Amino acid sequence: MRFVLAENLNEGMILGKPFYGNLGSFLLRKHAVLTDSLVRRIRSLGYAGLYIADDYSDGIEPDFVVSDELKNSSANAVRQFMTNLRTVPTNSTVLTDNVEQINGLVATIVNEIISSENAVINIIDLKSYDLYTYQHSVNVCVLAGVLGSALNLSHSELIDLASAAIFHDIGKMFVSKGVLDKPGPLNDEEFEEMKRHPGLGAEYMRDLFYFNAAVYVPVRQHHEHYDGTGYPRGLVGDDICHYAKIIAMSDTFDAITSRRPYHEAIMPHEGCEYIMGNAGRHFDPKSVEIFFKTVAPFPVGVSVMLSNGEEGIVFKNYPNFPMRPLIKLKPLPGKEDHYLDLCKDPGALNVTIKKLM
Ligand SMILES: [Fe+2]
Repeated sequence: MRFVLAENLNEGMILGKPFYGNLGSFLLRKHAVLTDSLVRRIRSLGYAGLYIADDYSDGIEPDFVVSDELKNSSANAVRQFMTNLRTVPTNSTVLTDNVEQINGLVATIVNEIISSENAVINIIDLKSYDLYTYQHSVNVCVLAGVLGSALNLSHSELIDLASAAIFHDIGKMFVSKGVLDKPGPLNDEEFEEMKRHPGLGAEYMRDLFYFNAAVYVPVRQHHEHYDGTGYPRGLVGDDICHYAKIIAMSDTFDAITSRRPYHEAIMPHEGCEYIMGNAGRHFDPKSVEIFFKTVAPFPVGVSVMLSNGEEGIVFKNYPNFPMRPLIKLKPLPGKEDHYLDLCKDPGALNVTIKKLM
């Protein structure tokens, strides 16, 4: 299968894997044929694209580390919790039940990450506009967990990191809806209100749900910047805890590679470039190094245009050489499948990936 951007989807295309629209509220089975109205619906809900099956992409099977089903149940649990936070009393057992359910899902996510054999992960996310907040929390959890695993954290350390990641924005529930949902830049007063969300979230995790410091401190510090320009405290360098540094990168990467009502998604390779460009500024340089070795800038399954004019699909990524994947080239009429290995073929040394298609 291959990933096709929403604007390039056409009626008659065949789905490469099941598609759970809006966390399962509508479902397209694997091999469903896209109709014109489905294509329009997918675009209007804000999805960046879909995985399509065709002869050209036959044999390409991206590994997503964590299943769509688990990501959906986790996003649904986060949605339930965040909705209840606004509506039920803070001492209600409903909230503790919600947190316990999320803790269970986080443990399953960590187990799936640990059992994954892929050193490089493919992230092209399929989020809708409406459910962005919940899907984002889960994606940050998965990405932070994968980075933690690449750093050889222990099982219990991974649980703490992934818990902090899934709850990182919980404090936003105490920010007024007008500020939270404002479709554009915040004025000074609104930004001051927004800046309170890391501290409020951390207090909540500590005082109501008795999370330990390894979980609530990263929640408090996830908007701190390595160079001291972040908030709420303007911490610098290694005064920021390790998990907060990982969550900050994961949070930013997922946000900028998502399609939002007020900005288009940038592609994973551009997201990676942004993270790299901010090494030593917003992000800790050592954490950026791990990020670059772990997240595929060109995920398996994306269509690319090469500098020699050929088109192809990313077939495989090599750890440590993120910019030089193995490419399955677009078949020529009557010819067999052919490949170009940007990492190993001597003839590919001067060929680069020009753009995604
Ligand atoms: Fe945040």
